Parts: sequence; structure tokens; C-alpha cells
Amino acid sequence: MRYLTFALPKGRLAVQTMELLNAIGITSILEENSRKLIYINEELKLKFFLSKAQDVPTYVEYGAADIGVSGKDTLLEEKRHIYEVLDLGLGICRVVVAGPPEAKEKLYNNNDLRVATKYPNIAKDFFYQKKHQTVEIIKLNGSVELGPIVGLSDVIVDIVESGSTLKANGLVVLEEIRPISAILVVNRVSMKTEYERIVDMITKLRKVVI
Ligand code: PRP
Repeated sequence: MRYLTFALPKGRLAVQTMELLNAIGITSILEENSRKLIYINEELKLKFFLSKAQDVPTYVEYGAADIGVSGKDTLLEEKRHIYEVLDLGLGICRVVVAGPPEAKEKLYNNNDLRVATKYPNIAKDFFYQKKHQTVEIIKLNGSVELGPIVGLSDVIVDIVESGSTLKANGLVVLEEIRPISAILVVNRVSMKTEYERIVDMITKLRKVVI
């Protein structure tokens, strides 16, 4: 039997995913606060590796991982050819347009709007396809809330979980784009070659996800 490889996003989601897997008898302990990136369960022939959240769909598309866990935000942004097989009900948040309260008027009445975001594809899809609004999209790699504060952009497109980052920076949600959660994803070839093992796991997981 060959190893089945999982790509998990570093951090809290990896820990929560392992808790779900433990509940269906797949035990592997991730060492929190460790720099170790690969864990092996010899008995079940499973490998787990921790990657940057944005890279999980890439590892799965290329077959470096058979299975992965990825936020729907990353899946929408990356547009990789992989199967989305199960909503794990973890990492629940939403993608929104946010900004200072006074940006609301500009958001509805202006075509020269500047939008800072880690998610240019999601932002394009929302403004161009859904709202038919021409805006300038500026890609950032993090701390996107800075955009309107330092005068880089009028608004941001970003994920909001607790809302505390927006609040701490005097920003508010101006428009909802969509809800987000973590999805179990599978490589298209692995789904065929390891069909029984993967479907068995999905079936068991389906019973423990909320
Ligand atoms: C994410 C997101 C927001 C924040 C939202 O950033 O981009 O900044 O979390 O969470 P909250 O609503 O609970 O405050 P992350 O922590 O991933 O850091 P980054 O901005 O450097 O990407």
C-alpha cells in the first residue's frame, strides 16, 4: 500500500483538521510550535505535510499531495483543477468589501474606486462580473487593512472572522461577498487510483463534521 499524502495549511486549521481526523481513527500528532513540516503515520501509510495555506491547492493539483484542506477563499482565488469533496465546517469566515464608513458612497457611485486585496481574482469576479463596475485592483500580500488607512486604496476586499482587525483600524463592512469555510480537496488522478481509501475516509468524515 502506498502512502496517501495530505497537504494541510499551517496553523490553527491544520490542528482542527487533525482533530477531525483523530475522530475517525486517523491519529497523528502535529507538534504545535514546531518547525517540522512532515509527519508520518506508518501504520496507516499516511503522510501529512504543512504548507502555506495559499499553496495547498497547488500541491494537490500537481499530485504532490493526494488530499488537502483549503479555505474556499484560496480555492476561489487559485482556481486549481481539483475536486472539492467535503465542506469541513472549519475556518468559518466571510469575504467582504470593507473600508472607512465614508467610503460607502464612493463604493456605489464611483468607477475610479481603488481596491486593495490579497484576493485579486475574487475582487475582479465581484466587481467586474457581478457588479459590472470598473475598479482598480491593487494586490497586497497581507495587512490589507492598511490600504485605506495610508491612502493606498478606497476600500479592501478581505476575509473577516471576528471583525476585530477591522474594528481596531476604524474600518467597517460595506458589502458582503460570500461566506467561507475549509473544504477537503482531492487530486483528480488520486481520486481514481485510491478511490476506496479516499471515499472511505470522506464517508467517515461526513459523519463527524458539524
Ligand atoms: C486575516 C484577514 C484579516 C484578519 C481577519 O489576516 O486578512 O486581516 O485575518 O480576522 P478578524 O476578523 O478575526 O480580525 P491574517 O491574520 O491571515 O494576516 P495577514 O493580513 O497578514 O494575511
